[in-house]
Parts: sequence; structure tokens; C-alpha cells
Amino acid sequence: MIRQWTTPSGAAVLAGLAWLRFATAIAVPSTPPSGSVTVDPSLISISIEFFAFPGYTNISGTNNCLNNLADLRGATPAIRIGGTTQDRATYDPNLQSAVNYTVADPADAPASLTYGPSFFTLAGKLPVDDVTIGLNRQLNHESNSLAAGTLALSEMTNFFAVELGNEPDLYSSSSPIAANTGWSNSIDISNEGKWFTDMAPTLGNVFQGAVYLSWSTATLVSRIGSAALSTIKSISRHSYPQSACNGASTNLTQLMRHPGIVSYVNQFKTDANSSRSAGKHFFFGETNSATCGGGGISPTFGAALWIVDYALQSALIGVERLYFHHGTIGNCAYCWWGKQAVYSPYFGAIFVSDFLGADGATLAQLDDSTSDIAAYAVYSASGAPLRVLLSNSAYFAGTGARANATVALTTSGLPRTSARAKRMTAPDATARADLGAPVTIGGNGTFSADCVAQGTQQMEEVAVGDDGSLTVSLLASEAVIVYL
Ligand SMILES: *[C@@H]1O[C@H](CO)[C@@H](O)[C@H](O)[C@H]1NC(C)=O
Ligand SMILES: *[C@@H]1O[C@H](CO)[C@@H](O)[C@H](O)[C@H]1NC(C)=O
Ligand SMILES: *[C@@H]1O[C@H](CO)[C@@H](O)[C@H](O)[C@H]1NC(C)=O
Ligand SMILES: *[C@@H]1O[C@H](CO)[C@@H](O)[C@H](O)[C@H]1NC(C)=O
Ligand SMILES: *[C@@H]1O[C@H](CO)[C@@H](O)[C@H](O)[C@H]1NC(C)=O
Ligand SMILES: *[C@@H]1O[C@H](CO)[C@@H](O)[C@H](O)[C@H]1NC(C)=O
Repeated sequence: MIRQWTTPSGAAVLAGLAWLRFATAIAVPSTPPSGSVTVDPSLISISIEFFAFPGYTNISGTNNCLNNLADLRGATPAIRIGGTTQDRATYDPNLQSAVNYTVADPADAPASLTYGPSFFTLAGKLPVDDVTIGLNRQLNHESNSLAAGTLALSEMTNFFAVELGNEPDLYSSSSPIAANTGWSNSIDISNEGKWFTDMAPTLGNVFQGAVYLSWSTATLVSRIGSAALSTIKSISRHSYPQSACNGASTNLTQLMRHPGIVSYVNQFKTDANSSRSAGKHFFFGETNSATCGGGGISPTFGAALWIVDYALQSALIGVERLYFHHGTIGNCAYCWWGKQAVYSPYFGAIFVSDFLGADGATLAQLDDSTSDIAAYAVYSASGAPLRVLLSNSAYFAGTGARANATVALTTSGLPRTSARAKRMTAPDATARADLGAPVTIGGNGTFSADCVAQGTQQMEEVAVGDDGSLTVSLLASEAVIVYL
């Protein structure tokens, strides 16, 4: 649905506009085209590292940032509480505080911790409808995790699911559950199955299975057996396009570029298909730009553009929700907010939520994944086109000329006399809102340090040709929503 604009049909009107000949033409079908998908209202969701979760409830930005997303979508994000430290945690029914641990440096994650009943009181108070709790399997204390799960179920009206273990593909021989087993994918599958079927009589069929970083979740779905499969509610796959572990180098140009996002996400098609065809939800149950807390690329405006494209592309292959991970408060490069700070990536989460809106039901990709320009349309439940999102994913570092692409949207069946657009932009792809760079939505929209929307978002008038086509220009590293 993309072609170079060689013979503009509104030739008389367009004659003076020489630049239009270089426009990328994108057709917006008047009904959802083949390949369109239904979008979960909680597509944009949040993961919070287990030990850090009580601290997040003590930050005023948390509820504000969640509520801003919910307002745009007309449904709350979902939250998953878990991560590496879920597998280091022991439930203590007598502990007065929500968590207890000691760290040498506040930037560290604890090597072990305990948590008490009030952990679930706090989780139950989160202003969201679905909370998934990640419990320990690594320490092989099945009755302890069952006691915690039982309390979660009774305390939390927003309870959604329970995970047992985080990234078991990384368990080593020092993991009690894996010791002397020759730990492998097939051993994990039978172990998950055993724990699920042991606990299901008490907890119900509420398990989020797999929780894999590198193993195929399709293998688990096909091999776990019907008894265990029937206890599974959702399948979680963790997804990080890049690694920042042990000083590994990251690359923002590659993170944000549209064709790269498409090919990265496509590797998960088999996993998504196998879950969905087994009747299980399929989630990126923990995701973000780079492993090990993120790297230098993670807090940037380029990462905001990545979130927009990555989330929509994931939805198209059958990922129902993406839980963007939030780690140690004050030491988290990819976080969307922290104590008295909102970071650039949050702008991407807001912008894609604005595009999908409360009325967006069906999503379609309009471009052919070969250029820097990404184009998506969202349709109402009755199949009417509502909005188009355009992103120019070319990396602009802040020096030299900033490329300026022109897109002509042909709205067949939809001749327009006017249309408006809203732009998300920044001085360049490396811009950091937390360091004062003007990352903006609608020219003037930003967020206060505790995540309250600031400024008035301005709409732009879109140029409309005689044939009803809409022309929009996008600088490198910039995105626009066109309201049809
Ligand atoms: C909550 O925040 C206050 C102010 O920053 C801090 O003094 C307190 O220790 C925090 N409590 C928890 C449980 O994180
Ligand atoms: C909290 O954990 C520390 C070790 O990190 C331990 O010494 C202390 O007794 C624990 N407190 C409670 C109330 O369990
Ligand atoms: C990032 O990748 C791009 C494209 O592959 C390459 O041109 C660039 O040099 C890389 N940047 C860094 C900092 O390695
Ligand atoms: C996934 O399912 C869709 C729709 O049924 C199909 O078009 C696609 O080829 C499948 N992909 C894989 C990798 O199985
Ligand atoms: C980008 O191109 C459009 C169309 O020619 C023009 O209206 C706009 O001013 C340009 N933007 C910049 C920043 O050069
Ligand atoms: C928003 O507009 C106000 C008032 O004109 C101005 O002071 C402020 O700098 C603008 N903010 C941004 C981020 O452009």
C-alpha cells in the first residue's frame, strides 16, 4: 500500500508544489485491510521489579503516569510485579513491612529478600484492573509460594495471574530447583507443569506460563500436556532487542529503525500463534530496550519512537500486551518515570496510547516495512478509519541537516476538506526530557516531575489536495498522528 508519488492525480493543484513529487504515497483503506488485528485495551502495560514495587507505590508519579495512559485508552494498563528478584524472595507471613532486604548501595538489587502480607495490600491498591504477581520457583519452596499466591488471590480484587519463576532458562546449577537435575527446557516444562497442577486446586487456572527470555514458548505450549495447559491463563515471553549487560554496546540507530523493528518482532510470530491457537493470552510479559536495566540509548527520545513502532508491530503479530519493565528506583535507564522525574520514553507510551485512543479497536500497518517511514491506521469497532500514525524512524543525532520527509495520504472513499495532526518531537533522537531537553507532544505538551500533563497540546492543520489527499511532513526522528 505504499508507492512513490509519480503521477499526482490532483495535478492542477499540485503543479506548484514541486516537493510533492518526492512524497511517499500511502493509501488509507476505508475499511480494515487484511492483516488487521484487534488491539487489547491494555496493549501498553507495565512490569515492576519485585523488590522495588513497594517503593514505586511511594512515588507520586506512579499513579499519575498510570492514570494518564488509562485516560487516553479508556482502560487501565495492566501491571506485572516480578523479575529477577521474584526468584530471590521468600514470603514471611509475620513481616510487618511489605519488603525487607539490605543492600550495600541503594543502586543495587538485593541478593535475597523477604516480603509480607502488606505487599499484596499495596498491589491491591494499584489503580489498574489486572495485576500479575511473579512468585519464586528458583528457591524450590513450593509451599511458601503457594501461601503467597493464596493471599494474593484473596487480597487483590485486581488479581489477574501468577507466575512461578522468572526466566528459568537462566537458572544455573546453583539454583536450588535446578541443582542435580541437568536443568533443561524439557525439565523446566515438566517442573512448571507440576507446580501449576499442584497449585491449581487452591488458586484456580490462573498461571502465566513460560516466562522465558530465550527458550521458545511454543515448545512449552506443545509439550506441557493437557492437564497443565488447562491451568494456564497466559503465556509470557520476555523481549529485549539489545543487551546492556556487562558493558555490551547498544545502538540507538538500530533500535529505532522501522525495518529492524519489523524483523525483530517477526521472530516471535510462532510463539504468539501457538499461544493464541491454544486459547491462551500471549504477552511480552517483560520487555524494554536493553537488558540489565538498559543502556545509554534507553532514556532517549529515540527510545520513545521505538516504543511507538515496537508496540504496534508487536500487536500485529499477536502480542496482546507489552509489559515495559521498571527496575531499581534511581538506577533505571529504561524507566518511564522515577522519583521526581519523567523520562523521554514515557512520551512514546503516551503518544501511541493517544493514537489508539479509547475508540480504536483494530490496527493495520499501511507501509511495506522497507523504509524509515512507518505508517499505521487505527479503525473503530464499526470499521471506520479514525487516525493514522506516521513515524520517521531515521536517526538524527543533532548535527548536520535534519532530513524532512513528506508523506501523502490518499484517503480513498474519504475525500477530506480538512484534517488535523499532532506531532511528537524533540531536538534530536538522543534528547532526554529528564535533563531538560524539550521533548514535546503537540508543540507544547510535556509532563511535570510527578507526571502531571503540562502545557496545551496544539493541533496542526494538514494540507488537503483537491482529491482529498493529506500531505504531512516529518523530520528525521519525529512522529505524527493524523486525525481523519
Ligand atoms: C517513601 O518516600 C519518602 C520520601 O521520599 C521516604 O522518606 C520513605 O523512606 C519512602 N518509603 C518507602 C517505603 O519507600
Ligand atoms: C530484615 O532483614 C535483615 C537482613 O537483611 C535482618 O537482619 C532483619 O532481621 C530483617 N527484619 C525483619 C523484621 O525480618
Ligand atoms: C549503529 O549502527 C549504525 C547502523 O548499523 C552504524 O552506522 C553506527 O555506526 C552504529 N553506531 C554506533 C555508536 O556503534
Ligand atoms: C500465524 O497466524 C497467522 C494467521 O493465522 C498466519 O497468517 C501466519 O502465517 C502465522 N505465522 C506463523 C509464523 O505461524
Ligand atoms: C519540511 O517540509 C515541509 C514541506 O516542504 C515544510 O512545510 C516544512 O517547513 C519543512 N520543515 C522543516 C523543519 O524544514
Ligand atoms: C509552552 O508554552 C509556554 C508559554 O508559551 C512556554 O513558556 C514554554 O516554553 C513552552 N514549552 C515548551 C516545552 O515548548
